[in-house]
Amino acid sequence: MVAFTILAGGYDVFVATYLFDSASSSLSLLSKSPTGPSPSWLSLHPTNKSILYAVNEVTAGALQSFDIGPKGTLSNAVNTVSSGGDSPAFATALSTGEVAIFNYNSGNGRIVPTTSSPRTFDNSAPVITFPRPPAPGVSHPHQAVEVGNEVLIPDLGGDTIWRLGRTNIPGNYKIQGSIPQPKGSGPRHIAVGNDRIFTLHELTSTLTVQGIPNAPNGTCSIIASASTIPPNPPSGAVFAAAEILIPPPTAKFPKSYIYVSNRNTGVLDTRGDTIAIFEHVNVGTRSEGLKLVNQVYTEINQPRGMAFGPADGRGGEEFLVVAGVAGTAGTLVLKRTDGGRNLELVVKNLEVPTRTTFVWL
Ligand SMILES: *[C@@H]1O[C@H](CO)[C@@H](O)[C@H](O)[C@H]1NC(C)=O
Ligand SMILES: *[C@@H]1O[C@H](CO)[C@@H](O)[C@H](O)[C@H]1NC(C)=O
Repeated sequence: MVAFTILAGGYDVFVATYLFDSASSSLSLLSKSPTGPSPSWLSLHPTNKSILYAVNEVTAGALQSFDIGPKGTLSNAVNTVSSGGDSPAFATALSTGEVAIFNYNSGNGRIVPTTSSPRTFDNSAPVITFPRPPAPGVSHPHQAVEVGNEVLIPDLGGDTIWRLGRTNIPGNYKIQGSIPQPKGSGPRHIAVGNDRIFTLHELTSTLTVQGIPNAPNGTCSIIASASTIPPNPPSGAVFAAAEILIPPPTAKFPKSYIYVSNRNTGVLDTRGDTIAIFEHVNVGTRSEGLKLVNQVYTEINQPRGMAFGPADGRGGEEFLVVAGVAGTAGTLVLKRTDGGRNLELVVKNLEVPTRTTFVWL
């Protein structure tokens, strides 16, 4: 038996703990640990897999820390601090020991240092507020990605990716530049690698690739743009692309593909929403581009987060866990087949109908 523990948050007041056994293809719900309201995004400490951070995606937004006990059960919240605004939809632990949390509704956030214990926050960090885009625009920071000495923040409302630079005081970052995105595109999540930024735009459901401009305000034009929307959607479908993952190459999957989830927030498709698989082709040549490899129907509706298993020698990287925000399709584990060009259902668990975020232990 090769058992993986998976933690799953959502719009409720608990984190669900699942056990996935890849040998017997079973997925069982082990426990539900109480949390603050709407732990819709989870992030593990970068080096200590016994410490979990969670957002409270509510009007008085907050960041919480937990100890992860035996069998993946969470302690009561060890520490809770304000996110400095309304509805944080994302948090991530940085290599510095700080935890970045950004508020979708209020266009601001904090990068909160931890103390001598990574479970206890230093609440002195200021609130970082992004410039308001021209009316009627509102800044909607949606993610935070550490790249070298910077933290990049895609702003869905501002059509840009903000570049935050460190100062010598923990938690104090300055908005030092930006990487503008096409007007009205709504950049939601990014993935960075191979000297490229891959941006998933929610409002136009497009995936783009561009170079990483020099800081602070260099520019790099978009090399290629592709639609993520599946063919022949039901009438009344409204697409809002959600997540992008580019798992690093491993011995079993030597080629990297780009996995993008399509959320249909309009008339639901009975086949569920798709995960689109792209290949980054002809890199560094004039014909560099993004080639659609597959659109995989998943049975779930409106996926938010999804996550590949860890590539730590146990074989977890073969598997992808995903769930929807709408419907009752539960949590699914899929596996990469055809070298990563396809995904097939392994098992599902319907005990919790919807989930929005996952971490593998
Ligand atoms: C990881 O965190 C747990 C929970 O706080 C703690 O007991 C443990 O000592 C930490 N491990 C390391 C290596 O720091
Ligand atoms: C770069 O952009 C930022 C944010 O828009 C701005 O505040 C800053 O003045 C710019 N810096 C330079 C050197 O142009």
